[in-house]
Amino acid sequence: MTQDELKDAVAAAAIDEITPWLERDTVLGIGTGSTANRFIDRLARLRDDFKGAVASSEASAERLRGHGIEVFELNSVGTVPFYIDGADEVNAHLHMIKGGGAALTREKIVAACAERFICIADASKKVERLGEFPLPVEVIPMARSYVARELVRLGADPVYREGVVTDNGNQILDCFDFMIDDPVAMEARINAIVGVVTNGLFAARGADVLLLGAESGVTRLI
Ligand code: 5RP
Repeated sequence: MTQDELKDAVAAAAIDEITPWLERDTVLGIGTGSTANRFIDRLARLRDDFKGAVASSEASAERLRGHGIEVFELNSVGTVPFYIDGADEVNAHLHMIKGGGAALTREKIVAACAERFICIADASKKVERLGEFPLPVEVIPMARSYVARELVRLGADPVYREGVVTDNGNQILDCFDFMIDDPVAMEARINAIVGVVTNGLFAARGADVLLLGAESGVTRLI
């Protein structure tokens, strides 16, 4: 199977996971990226069975609307029963690195408001130790150099993602050569640097369920 077919398989598994719980007033939290896009495309077939969605990016909001799914402001919704999103890396504790698509801050906010975070990923994303994928850090533009120097002090090699402006008007530093032994502690440590909006470690609030797609099928990990 190709990686795209595996992404499609986990998107289908996520649909199966949430379908029994959908009600007319259900508002879902929806992530960002190619795996989330496959989920959105499948969700379109169920659009009359739930109320709508909160999106973690303008791109996902546009895709949802394109399918006729109503998009709500998170402030008007409060909590969502499910947040469904992909990951760049995920470990056995269901801690993740996210933000390859620069949507990490909104993803973390919607995830914080979710009763259950369902991570959908192909098997290439499963790792023993987080950090092979460069950890994204969203920064206030005027703080970029300062934050970069602080990240170097933590042992990272931060690189400015040139040409990328987040949906929040900020910039991204990607931390290369930065293997992470304690994701919960490192998430808090980086977030404490002045000028950091958030970082792509999703450890304090990891996933509740991982649907992992491999040649042998989709495995459900909790
Ligand atoms: C976007 C993300 C995505 O979930 C992550 O990059 C995975 O993307 P894809 O499903 O395309 O591999 O965090 O900010």
